[in-house]
Amino acid sequence: MDVLATNNHNKIHLVIGPSSSGKSTYIVSNCKGLEVIMAYEFDKKMLKDENVVVHYNSFRGYSNSVENISRKIEEDSIFAKILNSGLQVRASVIVCSKSCLIKRAALRKEIEPGLRKMKSKYPDEKIIELINVVNLRDHYSEIIDLLRQSSVEFELVNSNRDFQVIHEKHLPEVIKLQRPDYTKEEVQEILDKYHFEYHSIQLPYGLKTKGSPRDYSIFEGINFKSKTVLDVGCGYGSMSFYAEGKGAADIKGIELKMHRYIGGIILKNILGSIVKFEKFNLFETDFSKKFDIVILLNVIHHLPDPFFALRKLVEMSGDVFILEFPTLDDPKFKSTLISEQGSMLNSIVFRIKNRIRSFSKKFVKQDENELPVVGISLKSKKQTFVFSRKGIERYMNQIAPEFDLEFRQSNINNSRVVLIARRDKT
Ligand SMILES: C[S@@+](CC[C@H](N)C(=O)[O-])C[C@H]1O[C@@H](n2cnc3c(N)ncnc32)[C@H](O)[C@@H]1O
Repeated sequence: MDVLATNNHNKIHLVIGPSSSGKSTYIVSNCKGLEVIMAYEFDKKMLKDENVVVHYNSFRGYSNSVENISRKIEEDSIFAKILNSGLQVRASVIVCSKSCLIKRAALRKEIEPGLRKMKSKYPDEKIIELINVVNLRDHYSEIIDLLRQSSVEFELVNSNRDFQVIHEKHLPEVIKLQRPDYTKEEVQEILDKYHFEYHSIQLPYGLKTKGSPRDYSIFEGINFKSKTVLDVGCGYGSMSFYAEGKGAADIKGIELKMHRYIGGIILKNILGSIVKFEKFNLFETDFSKKFDIVILLNVIHHLPDPFFALRKLVEMSGDVFILEFPTLDDPKFKSTLISEQGSMLNSIVFRIKNRIRSFSKKFVKQDENELPVVGISLKSKKQTFVFSRKGIERYMNQIAPEFDLEFRQSNINNSRVVLIARRDKT
């Protein structure tokens, strides 16, 4: 439909919607022959005495920030200029579901000029983050409220479905639409575009992300059915997706690194998963929340204050707390004893070990992992601390005596151990 052509008095046709909602495609097929300007180019004086289409990205006002993202359109001076231009304005609000926005953002090749000024190293990742965080219902309500307050005539156009005009009452279901279809070529394009590493995650059409497969047998005997799960330091979400596959009802994955967090969102969209990914530092988590199962796998040696994290995460665990930690056998930790300090320290360490062994054979076994100790690693190895099995056991017994502890060998390598701590209900 050519909106402006239906009314000779219209001067501005505002085409408004979030990033990747399909504004450009809509304009190409519905606003033929009209001058099109980007919102940032809008200036009343520049307008010729003819109809003009304004391409308005409703994420403009968010700039580079996902903090405090509410009511940003209202604060945008360009939006106010358009509405207060004195010219007749008519609007097409381009409506799209979150999952379609993510798919298009993940596959897009170019960023609109108006958003290029974003200072992020990964601007398209920022857009995906914005889409993930924004409450689309509130976002569209804000647009609609502002248009109504300014008596702007508008229509809602569903870009999930050939730009059909929809009634406002159908907005919630359009926004909610789950999992768009991906072709094999699209999944492959995403795999080529993004730097997936670390986790190997199975995708449709037999495709998978680069990385190592995780062996989930460490979860043997854990009942995820209908449980709430917190996966701390979730990476691309391999374990979270596993928990979902085993029937978990609500899963939250928190991750510090931007590219892994974004990767998780993209994979979730391809898989049609319900996992909620959040970009968060564990130490800024709301520790008052409770989850049936809390997992901290292969993360603790990166944490600056692992004991604080252990106390808080155990408190948050309703049924089970699962921890995977590196022991004193960790090769990176061991290499700090040799490479950083030179062979002298290495020989001192060996002498001390031998003394302990010979003096205390009666009291401790020979393996230092049988002593309740913590190894202080080095920043240059991207590690903080490693732990003996006995050390974790002693600490857990002090902070959480109500938990039954079971240790298992991790399948990452011989220097990782898994602790399954079950709250004893008896
Ligand atoms: C070695 S990976 C383990 C990923 C996954 N848990 C697994 O076992 O396959 C550790 C992850 O923890 C994340 N991480 C480290 N410190 C964190 C913190 N303070 N808060 C949230 N995530 C963190 C890292 O960014 C990284 O992706």
